[in-house]
Amino acid sequence: MHNIDIELVEMTLDVMKYVINRITKTAPELGQPKKEEELRSMVGDTITSAGIGGEKAFDLFKDVLIKATVPIDHPRHLAFVPASPTRAAIMFDLVTSASSIHGAYWMEGAGGIFCENEAMKWLVSLTGLPEPAFGVFTSGGTAANLSAMVTAREAWRKNTDNINEKALIITSSGAHSSIKSMAKVIDADVVLVETEDSMSATMLVNALKGLTEHQRKRLFAVVATGGTTNAGIIDDLDGIGSICEQEGLWFHVDAAYGGGALASKQARPLFKGIERANSITIDPHKWLFSPYDCGAIIYKNPELAKEAHSQEGSYLDIFKDEGAHGFNPSDYQIQLTRRVRGLPLWFSLAMHGTDKYEWAVQQGIELANLAGKIIGENPVVELVREPSLSCVLFRRKGWTPDDYRNWTYKNHRDGFALVTPTKWKNQGVYETVARFCFINPDTTESDIRAILDSMK
Ligand SMILES: Cc1ncc(COP(=O)(O)O)c(C=O)c1O
Repeated sequence: MHNIDIELVEMTLDVMKYVINRITKTAPELGQPKKEEELRSMVGDTITSAGIGGEKAFDLFKDVLIKATVPIDHPRHLAFVPASPTRAAIMFDLVTSASSIHGAYWMEGAGGIFCENEAMKWLVSLTGLPEPAFGVFTSGGTAANLSAMVTAREAWRKNTDNINEKALIITSSGAHSSIKSMAKVIDADVVLVETEDSMSATMLVNALKGLTEHQRKRLFAVVATGGTTNAGIIDDLDGIGSICEQEGLWFHVDAAYGGGALASKQARPLFKGIERANSITIDPHKWLFSPYDCGAIIYKNPELAKEAHSQEGSYLDIFKDEGAHGFNPSDYQIQLTRRVRGLPLWFSLAMHGTDKYEWAVQQGIELANLAGKIIGENPVVELVREPSLSCVLFRRKGWTPDDYRNWTYKNHRDGFALVTPTKWKNQGVYETVARFCFINPDTTESDIRAILDSMK
């Protein structure tokens, strides 16, 4: 298994051939999911005592299994938050795997962690957070949000009065599901400010007024969103940040999706106040063109994260020795053993430069504005709200939820596009509407027009 023989060399060449073919494809086939039994009947048993051989396993993957997946970088994949990793970043993901770097501690991963930290410095600079703010790459936005919540709660529990109190968070109903989900993980309660639109400072003040005295004592953090997943809406970060400062609350900004827009000088002012945050989530695997998985958590005061996350164990003592000194990513988030998942971003940034990143991010915003304009000129559809960041919500006049669903499935079945409906709350009532989220700079005006034509 660990031998180097001709079979291994041939397999390496096959893999390289596949990779070159895949990363030079601008419109990969839109695969379809199949039932598990169907896939099993098509590929048979793949895990056997003697092994089926690399060639056969790879053929099954190429001929059957990959076709049951949806490439997230297809230019007409505008559903959820799609992705479009740069070719440089994808190639370097291979290099990262081949290099077998342990990314937890400087002692083992110094060269790789150095690269991650160079990319992180750029990311931090986009937020405007003052020194010594810094961060680490995580497996995604959920892990980043969890790492921030744990740090915030531990900081709050430094006050011994809070040790036995169940913690409480305020966020908006437009916040991402991971906030509520991670609150469960840390056994914290959540008070929701009911708005899918921008959460304002006044809404937060009213929510604070609505708390009982005991709830106010249990409140340790406010989570604002820098670009909602559904509609790209940014909360009033400046106003909320200022209230958090007055009230002594941890201010977390979840900009997992929207944070990429900080790379655009034009969009950056929309995030005014983000520099007041105690912690910020930004996912490079969303709008900064990294392959999965790569999230990031940034702290205003990284020492608090270290106090919360640094693991102790006699087998880990060596990492705290002189000689092993350096930045240990594991001290700042929930994961110990970790891939140096910031490396593909570093390589792509180093290769292309930050100006190209700015251009590519701006392209997403421009595509959203263009789609808004085209929708405005088309009598069959109408905007539900003005495009925000790279999200566009629009309705097909006269359609029922079933029409939207059937349209999504038909386009997907035809291998044409993946655009899914969502819901938007209008005067207290949820309406099913269509949604575009642009990430891929290769999406064109004719893609947008063709998708709208498919709604006729
Ligand atoms: C605003 C926001 N926060 C958090 C997440 C969760 O990120 P991940 O899926 O990388 O865990 C998402 C995912 O879409 C998101 O849009």
